[in-house]
Order: sequence, then structure tokens, then C-alpha cells
Amino acid sequence: MSKKYYIKTFGCQMNVYDSSRIADMLQNLGYEEAASPRQADLVIFNTCHNRKKAAEKVFSDLGRLYNIKQERLAEEGRDMIIGLAGCVVQAEDEQIAKRAPYVDFATGPLTYYRIPQLLEEIGRKKGVSLIDTDFPAIDKFDYLPDNQSHGGCSYLAIQEGCNNFCTYCVVPYTRGAEFSRPVEAVLAEAKRLVAGGTLEINLLGQNVNSYHGEDSAGKERNLAYLLRRLSEIDGLKRLRYTTSYPADVDDDLISCHRDLSKLMPYLHLPVQSGSDRILKAMNRRHNRDDYIRVIDKLKEANPAIGLSSDFIVGFPGESDADFQATLDLVNYVKYIQAFSFKYSRRPGTPAAVYENQIEEKVKKERLEILQNLLFSYQLRFNTESIGKTMPVLFDMKGRHKGQLIGRTPYMQNLHAELGKEYLNKIVPVKITGANTNSLSGIAEGI
Ligand code: SAH
Ligand code: SF4
Ligand code: F3S
Repeated sequence: MSKKYYIKTFGCQMNVYDSSRIADMLQNLGYEEAASPRQADLVIFNTCHNRKKAAEKVFSDLGRLYNIKQERLAEEGRDMIIGLAGCVVQAEDEQIAKRAPYVDFATGPLTYYRIPQLLEEIGRKKGVSLIDTDFPAIDKFDYLPDNQSHGGCSYLAIQEGCNNFCTYCVVPYTRGAEFSRPVEAVLAEAKRLVAGGTLEINLLGQNVNSYHGEDSAGKERNLAYLLRRLSEIDGLKRLRYTTSYPADVDDDLISCHRDLSKLMPYLHLPVQSGSDRILKAMNRRHNRDDYIRVIDKLKEANPAIGLSSDFIVGFPGESDADFQATLDLVNYVKYIQAFSFKYSRRPGTPAAVYENQIEEKVKKERLEILQNLLFSYQLRFNTESIGKTMPVLFDMKGRHKGQLIGRTPYMQNLHAELGKEYLNKIVPVKITGANTNSLSGIAEGI
């Protein structure tokens, strides 16, 4: 019987991508995917250190996993290897041995290509935790096996790390300095994905629009160039990129939103706050007006574009007026989707030791007000979709038999009664129902 693996992914799309590459490596070693941790001989948690809650959840989930491991051993005599990957490992390597000594191996987001080697070592030295978090001065992507396509929508990391050092954020510490993959490596990976059935590629990087990878002649190329090259790939139907940094959106990139039909009319462009004072304290390289200018230009290039953002409420020193400035900005942009968080103090980041921290109660109140406003725009946009026909890429089975879940060009989730032969296909769907988080519709021409 072949060995089975289970990967649980926390955090951002970058981690989802890394998990898919870890799955590729394990499949090359003969592992098959398990339906649950209980059935797996190897369980890997790919972790996030972004906010305190996410990081703490890893340790509580690990405790539960350890119980499952012991039950499995007692009931079936089958052992389980427990591995940790991702940003918690990079940030808390010393804590892991203390808080979860039963972890067999731990490897950071830049070193996971060494998992096959770690598994081999575990086989040799039983009961020793291997913690592997050196920041290697090499391109991890060179050490990964060729990627495989895992469905109709795929992520493709084109950049790693971040140099922005927003004062609240752990990413520059967990993922290191910004690095762009070469153009040809990205194109080759994209072509493999498309050959394997991918119709939509979402290019990933923490600051993806500062991409500056080298082409085959050694010339640095920007994201706009890469998007144009990718849109020439036959069989690729949709392109997206995330996450963009407002100060690095240039006119060349904006023109892609006018010229490239494969580029979806949706952009996640996090602003974090609408107050100049707070943006400065966050060390963001844009102010409110810069951001609005970019939004206006994008809407001019493609009037149908829908925007989304991340927000942090209760950043140290945020006054009622600062918070109101954020609400005003939301009313100006009318985001069609958004993520909002209470500021979380992350050890080692500059803002964690700012003196004017905001009370939890105030953060909670502000989050509720902001989310209600954001949800109202999201619901309005979704409701306005009713009656329209949109191309939907179905990439998941629904909860009920005969139901599929897909994505509209605007990243709205859509449920439809549709047979599984339409999985990983783009189908025109007439929208018939909407709520805040999803749409329903009827496939047309079938
Ligand atoms: N590179 C991306 C996002 C990285 S983290 C960008 O620059 O937009 C994803 C989101 O988590 C951030 O946009 C931010 O809104 C949120 N976040 C990051 N650190 C946080 C913290 N300490 N507290 C609360 N939210 C945080
Ligand atoms: Fe973090 Fe800022 Fe970099 Fe985004 S741009 S990853 S928020 S430091
Ligand atoms: Fe979390 Fe690391 Fe992504 S901290 S948000 S998983 S880069």
C-alpha cells in the first residue's frame, strides 16, 4: 500500500502555492493524498505568522494532531510523521522544540524544497526533531521538481519575499528579501500548468507588481511585460495577479487592464488605511491621494474593473478621525470585496512597541463598523449581478450532489446545478440569486 500525505494550509495564497509544490514533491516520492489526517502517514501544517490568532491556532491544532497520531498508533499500529512548514517555522524556530517537541521536522518557506531529504534523515534517526530554517542564498524554485497542474485555477509564484517593511508586518522577516523569478522559468511553469488543464493563472507575490525578473537576454522585465507574454499562451483563458502594492502600480501595468482581454477585471489593491497619518506610521510608500489617483486611472483604463482591498483597524495611534478617513475612502472606491483585520501586535515588528496601542474594545467596534460598510457594498455589487450572464470557471464540487462551485471574472463564488463533467471548464451562467458571499445561477446553452 502506498504511503499517504495530508497537508493543511494556513495563511495566504503564497502558502497555498507552496503546499501545491510540496504535494508535487511528495507525489514524486510515491505518496498519495489522504482524505483526512487520520488516514495519513505524513501530515504537514503549512503555517502563517501574520496575526497572533493564526500563529496560535497552529499550536492548538498540532496538539490535536498529536492525539490523532497516538490513537492511530495504538489502534492500528501505524505511525505518523508530523512536519511543519511556512512562516511560523521561520519566526518561531526555537519555540517549536519547546511547544511541540513531537514535531519530526520543521522547514521554512524558503527551504521546503529539502523535505525529501528531511524525510530520508528522519528514517535514519528516529525521534529527533529536524529544524531547518537557514535563509538560503539560492533560488528555491531551481530545486523543486517540475510543477503539476492541480485543476482549472492555478497559482503561480513569480516573486518571493518583500522589501517594504510595513511596520506591522512579519512577511519581510519570514520570507526574506524580495526576489523575482526569471521570465522564462515563469513561462515554462505556466505552459506546464496549461498543458495539465489549467485555464486560469493567478500570479503571486507579496508585492507582485514590483516584479523585475530577467528575460533570456538578461534584461529586467516588469509585470506588464510578463502579463503580455503569458496572455499569448494558447489555452490559457484567464490571468490575475496578487498582491499589488499601490505605490508600484505604473502606467504600463494600468494599460494591461485596458489591452489584455485575458486579464480579469478585478484587482486586489490593499490600502490598509484611508488616513495619511496612519499610512505614514505604517511606513506605506503611498498616501490617500496617490491611492485614489491609481484607482481613478484603473477605472479609466477599464470602467468595468472591480476592486478589493485589505484593511487594518486599530493600528497604534488611530483616532476616530483616522478611522473615519478609512470609511470615507471605502465610500469613494465602493469595493466589491475586502478583507479587514484588527491590528495584531507581532513581536519583532516596529509597531509592536509603539506606545499608543488601541484598546481591544475600540478595535472590535471599528472592525464591526467597517465590515458592515464593506459588506453593504459587496452585497450591492452581487445583487446588481442578478440577470447578467457571466463566464464562470467551475473548479470545485458543491456540498450537494450535482452542484458545482465556480468563480466569476470578479472572483465571486457561484453555485450552480451542473454535472461534474463541467468541472474545470468555463461555462456561461445567468445569475439568478445573490447574497453577500455568493451567487447562484443557471448554466446557459447546455
Ligand atoms: N503583501 C500584501 C499582504 C500581506 S499580509 C500587501 O502588502 O498588501 C495580508 C494582510 O494581512 C495585509 O494586507 C494586512 O491587511 C494584514 N496584516 C498583516 N499584518 C497584520 C497585523 N500585524 N495585524 C493585522 N493585520 C495584518
Ligand atoms: Fe507586509 Fe507590507 Fe510587504 Fe505587504 S508590502 S508583505 S504588508 S511588508
Ligand atoms: Fe502568512 Fe506567511 Fe503568507 S505570514 S500571510 S503565510 S507570507
